[in-house]
Amino acid sequence: MEYAFKEDRYDKMQYRHCGISGLQLPAVSLGLWHNFGDIDNQQTARDILRLAFDKGITHFDLANNYGPPPGSAEENFGRIFKQDFRDHRDELIISSKAGWGMWPGPYGDLGSRKYLIASLDQSLKRMGLEYVDIFYHHRPDPGTPIEESMGALNQIVRQGKALYVGISSYHPEETKKAVKILKDLGTPCLIHQPKYSMFDRWIEDGLLQTLTEEGVGCICFSPLAQGLLTDKYLKGIPDDSRAHSHRGNGAIEESAITPERIAKAIKLNEIAKRRGQNLAQLALAWVLRHKIVTSVLIGVSKTQQLLDSIKCLDNLTFTDAELKEIDKVLL
Ligand SMILES: NC(=O)c1ccc[n+]([C@@H]2O[C@H](COP(=O)([O-])OP(=O)(O)OC[C@H]3O[C@@H](n4cnc5c(N)ncnc54)[C@H](OP(=O)(O)O)[C@@H]3O)[C@@H](O)[C@H]2O)c1
Repeated sequence: MEYAFKEDRYDKMQYRHCGISGLQLPAVSLGLWHNFGDIDNQQTARDILRLAFDKGITHFDLANNYGPPPGSAEENFGRIFKQDFRDHRDELIISSKAGWGMWPGPYGDLGSRKYLIASLDQSLKRMGLEYVDIFYHHRPDPGTPIEESMGALNQIVRQGKALYVGISSYHPEETKKAVKILKDLGTPCLIHQPKYSMFDRWIEDGLLQTLTEEGVGCICFSPLAQGLLTDKYLKGIPDDSRAHSHRGNGAIEESAITPERIAKAIKLNEIAKRRGQNLAQLALAWVLRHKIVTSVLIGVSKTQQLLDSIKCLDNLTFTDAELKEIDKVLL
């Protein structure tokens, strides 16, 4: 029997405009980088996606290389989409990306027109979709003229294979160039996807300002520093954690769970408690405090984590004293 999504799914989620565009994203979005590959439990993956949409999470973020193995997250998503979400395509924002190594040889990596267009065609096949809502260039490629990469994004929109385009991990100067080129081509840059969390604040050094000036949205990835900014590592490394599972492809390793970071996490956890939150909820609310941030892009390995993290929305305001105290811990 077909899964019946909850009728009240839009009642509690907050939606924010993506920069100056007409597109709104949920304040919390779900990423499929990990936990949706062939090595993962497929029933859990399906349960997470169902629960997410039931909670008003209308945005699922993928990329060509998500898994492991690369490509398998898109395939698994495609199968679940066909089973559960086919009648809801117009309620969903599905994104994919290309920019990291995907297949052998010079045309399966970086930022050429050849790679970006071929990769999106492959992603659409894997997911069984006619188009994605957002297609990203996954990382800047200094070896390709930025005009070529942005020209490919423009072409993809003209071909009807994506409705909007974005960039990921571009620095402020590269972002300004990309935004201008896309504007001149008539395909505005919808959104930027940078890494941002209490443990990685690089976007405060110019990028947030640039995005505000240019009217481009911002969706922050790894807002929980892959789990470090939750209470899961406060008393050691659990067997069922990402750090323990040696997943590769950029996943956090045990060596990243350092005493210094845990000491900070413990202090932040105390601040969270005073706000009536846990550490994950504090960390997400802290990212969402910026007006220009459209959404936090979280990962979850269990449905319970999704239920837990989404409660960040219950308290998004910070006093100046709280922000100062957090800054002091993070110094
Ligand atoms: N553009 C890019 O270059 C790029 C790069 C990386 C990621 N991304 C995107 O960002 C998304 C999110 O990245 P991420 O998975 O690193 O995000 P994250 O939210 O920082 O980390 C997710 C992990 O944190 C743990 N977790 C989540 N909620 C928890 C909770 N409430 N309590 C305890 N632990 C919790 C889980 O770890 P366990 O698995 O250990 O349970 C989960 O797998 C990706 O799926 C992808 O879409 C983009």
